[in-house]
Amino acid sequence: MRLDKYLCESSDLTRSLARSALARGEITVNGEVVKRGTFVVREGDQVQWDGETLEIIGLRYIMLNKPAGYECSLKNSQHLPVMDLLDVDKRDRLHTVGRLDVDTTGLILITDDGQWTHRIISPRHRCDKVYLATLAEPLSEDAEERFAAGILLEGEDKVTLPAVLERVEERLARLTIQEGKYHQVRRMFAALGNHVTALHRERIGPVALDDDLQLGESRYLTPAEVSALAQADDTPA
Ligand code: URA
Repeated sequence: MRLDKYLCESSDLTRSLARSALARGEITVNGEVVKRGTFVVREGDQVQWDGETLEIIGLRYIMLNKPAGYECSLKNSQHLPVMDLLDVDKRDRLHTVGRLDVDTTGLILITDDGQWTHRIISPRHRCDKVYLATLAEPLSEDAEERFAAGILLEGEDKVTLPAVLERVEERLARLTIQEGKYHQVRRMFAALGNHVTALHRERIGPVALDDDLQLGESRYLTPAEVSALAQADDTPA
């Protein structure tokens, strides 16, 4: 990789700042000052900027147990961004895989790999998302059938894809959906005349929220989890 590109990918330097740092002789490769951005960095080379070693950060895949009160969107947010919960470098390169409402808790995936995100959230593919919903009213008798048949959400002209409802308690249900429409779970229960008072995401495709993660805690996904998620949607609708 060219040295100028290496500098941008391994530090906060922009292209023009990297050029200036090179021109000022602040960059060394294996101890020697290098001023050419076209210099090719090879595996095992040690690149330093003012004596500090720079390393390329590879693609990152993180699971976070999102607490209520944090916002997945970065724009016009009145709440703290979920990224504030991560203690990692270059947070600005990361994005959430889909979104959870500010009041929703549980599993959110975070990455800087746009292609991976696309495979998980593309509506062409049907990746299960499993939620635990606490309800204001007892579940109706026919709730399972209504969810399985698809529900017409307010403002939509097509019913939702079939969803699987599991009755946990009178006012507690586990719902598996394969779409990610805006406020979908809350709107599905609202269409049945109920109201979601708390919502928690337990699983996305084959990956469940790690029981060891307290609210606000995160960990890197294992390579097996990363590839299982990428393959989870291999049966396009
Ligand atoms: N459905 C909702 O209504 N809210 C969420 O946060 C996720 C799914």
